[in-house]
Amino acid sequence: MMENFQYYAPTKVVFGKGTENKAGQLVKEQNCRKVLIHYGSGSVKRSGLLDRIFASLDEEGISYISLGGVVPNPRLSLVYEGIDLCRREGVDFILAVGGGSVIDSAKAIGYGVENEGDVWDFYERKRQACGCLPIGVVLTIAAAGSEMSDSSVITNENGWLKRGYNSSYCRPKFAVMNPELTMTLPKYQTASGCVDIMMHTMERYFNHCDNMELTDGISEHLLRTVMNAKILMDEPQCYKARAEVMWAGSLSHNGLMACGNDGGDWACHQLEHELGGMFDVAHGAGLAAVWGSWARYVCDALPDRFEQFAVNVMGVENGDDKNAVIQKGIEAMENFFRQIEMPTDLGGLNIEVSEDQMKELALKCSHFGKRTIGCVKKLNQEDIYRIYQKAAD
Ligand code: NZQ
Ligand code: ZN
Repeated sequence: MMENFQYYAPTKVVFGKGTENKAGQLVKEQNCRKVLIHYGSGSVKRSGLLDRIFASLDEEGISYISLGGVVPNPRLSLVYEGIDLCRREGVDFILAVGGGSVIDSAKAIGYGVENEGDVWDFYERKRQACGCLPIGVVLTIAAAGSEMSDSSVITNENGWLKRGYNSSYCRPKFAVMNPELTMTLPKYQTASGCVDIMMHTMERYFNHCDNMELTDGISEHLLRTVMNAKILMDEPQCYKARAEVMWAGSLSHNGLMACGNDGGDWACHQLEHELGGMFDVAHGAGLAAVWGSWARYVCDALPDRFEQFAVNVMGVENGDDKNAVIQKGIEAMENFFRQIEMPTDLGGLNIEVSEDQMKELALKCSHFGKRTIGCVKKLNQEDIYRIYQKAAD
């Protein structure tokens, strides 16, 4: 049966060339007293974007302070620093200028300011947040979809645990998306972003529900659209492809692809989060490295869907031998990853993972044996370990 669903996407999207110059106006509409401009490790300074944002806020007479230094797989220590700063300075709005890491760090700071106690409790699922400071976004990379999502993923250096927390409180009020801003991305980050975008749809696509035809159709089209963007490997300045990918990134993770299908699998994301926590790999690259091993491990539990994926998304010719079609579909996806220079195994991430580390990854991923992950097949600590092992072969 098709599942009931709620769809809530309250973020105002301001898309296209030059839109970053509207940041001041958009912040002003929020009626705030003081803004924290949060950013990463320097790309927005080098590109001149940060100065344009400052100018846009100055023009509207908005009072602001700034805090940079967010790194990919954003750290809890900077979140604590941000919370203190916001409290000291009376900040009541956060403008994130950057990618998923900056946005997620902004969301975590927002939770910390609006709630008493340790913000990490939410990521540990010890309690629920009762609010979050309002967030605005100027997006510089198409990838995580955090600009419209209800999710924030933070890494705690104490134990190198990477954990996500979801609640609608953190959904950004607005997201400014100028595809041109993504043209300065290194090839690796563009490709890694494309994988993440695809995975946000694929995680929802692989499920046991009787899906909505409409949601399936949008999902399959989105996946093919992002694959077309491999042109960006040779033509990074192609506005059309940058724009398609950027919008795909938001739609892939704003809940649209989950309408009628009960939320999806998410095992690959859980597998990657442990890799990101322990080895600091780029999120999308980590997803590409485990996807094939996951798919081969679980595909016998969902043959019709894997067959549909092979034919409708990867263009495999349908035939009598269902298993052969399924395997070709998985191989075709891995070939696409190779074309955009993404890894298809752990070796491709340039990390050495020892037996003991694989066991530790599985232990952490299963929350010390207390949970299973995924819905296509429910995966316990032993299954998780085997998938990491296959990915290491
Ligand atoms: O820090 P700077 O100097 O800005 O450099 C960044 C960073 O090194 C660089 N970059 C960003 N825009 C650029 C640019 N370089 C040149 N030109 C530009 N225009 O790219 C690097 C990666 O940035 P990051 O923000 O880490 O990328 P992404 O958007 O992929 O975010 C990844 C994080 O988001 C989490 C991931 O786990 C990871 O921690 N996720 C968040 C989700 C969410 N909140 O909904 C969902 C995802 O599944 C994901 O888990
Ligand atoms: Zn992701």
